Amino acid sequence: MKIFKNKKTLIKKLNGDQNLSFIPTMGALHKGHLSLIKKAKKKRFKTLVSVFINPKQFERKQDFKRYPKNLRKDIQILKKEKIDYLFIPKFKDIFSFKCQNKVFLSNFSNKLCGKFRTGHFKGVLEVVSRFLEIIKPKYIYLGVKDFQQLVLISEHIKKRRLKTKVISCKTIREKNGLAISSRNKLLKTNEKKIAIKTINFLKNRKKKIVLKDINSITNRLLNFGVTKIDYIKIMDIKKLKYENKVKKNCNIFIAFSVNKIRLIDNF
Ligand code: PAF
Repeated sequence: MKIFKNKKTLIKKLNGDQNLSFIPTMGALHKGHLSLIKKAKKKRFKTLVSVFINPKQFERKQDFKRYPKNLRKDIQILKKEKIDYLFIPKFKDIFSFKCQNKVFLSNFSNKLCGKFRTGHFKGVLEVVSRFLEIIKPKYIYLGVKDFQQLVLISEHIKKRRLKTKVISCKTIREKNGLAISSRNKLLKTNEKKIAIKTINFLKNRKKKIVLKDINSITNRLLNFGVTKIDYIKIMDIKKLKYENKVKKNCNIFIAFSVNKIRLIDNF
């Protein structure tokens, strides 16, 4: 595995090689990331993982500061996975050049988390579009857990006619049902129990959930100890439209906080 700490040396090494599978991450790697890497490794192409905590996608400095970091362990994990290239850029590597393609942020960015995290998706697209310009990968691997991010990145790629293909990867869960996320590391034992109870409560009732019950479900979850619920929505994942009952192609989307830790999921 070759490690690149700046854009120049990476570009020199890649030398226009576009047969690359790209897995963007913010580090604190877990089984979710590993499943993306393993899926990418099944293709013949070289794998490039980036580790960069993008300050532009955090609305609050505090959230950015306490985002879990463990670069030394991340490097060990990636070496073991035998990825080809690891890119650990600095802020200026990503944000100091003039981008060719303006970020395209579709109206879907105003739904779900977009209503609660002002500027978040713009920040995500700013970094991803720049990575795509630097690396020009054949494939980018993204998890369905961050469904809205996956859709918005796909829409940007389509609108700007980039050649990169998006490969969506299924959500990896702990045995207890909780979707694996870097933020889980911030949960104390009791907070984690509340998160697990919340997800399983919704998953077990998924088919029966109708719009008019969402208020009572919200109260139930608050009673479990959830601190705040940003939204619980039923959405058709093909049409990207809210629905009032769970039909074909519908998922339940939730964003909630236990104390200060905000989690999202969809199933
Ligand atoms: O999903 C993430 O970890 C980040 O949003 C991403 C795609 C690496 C961009 O910073």
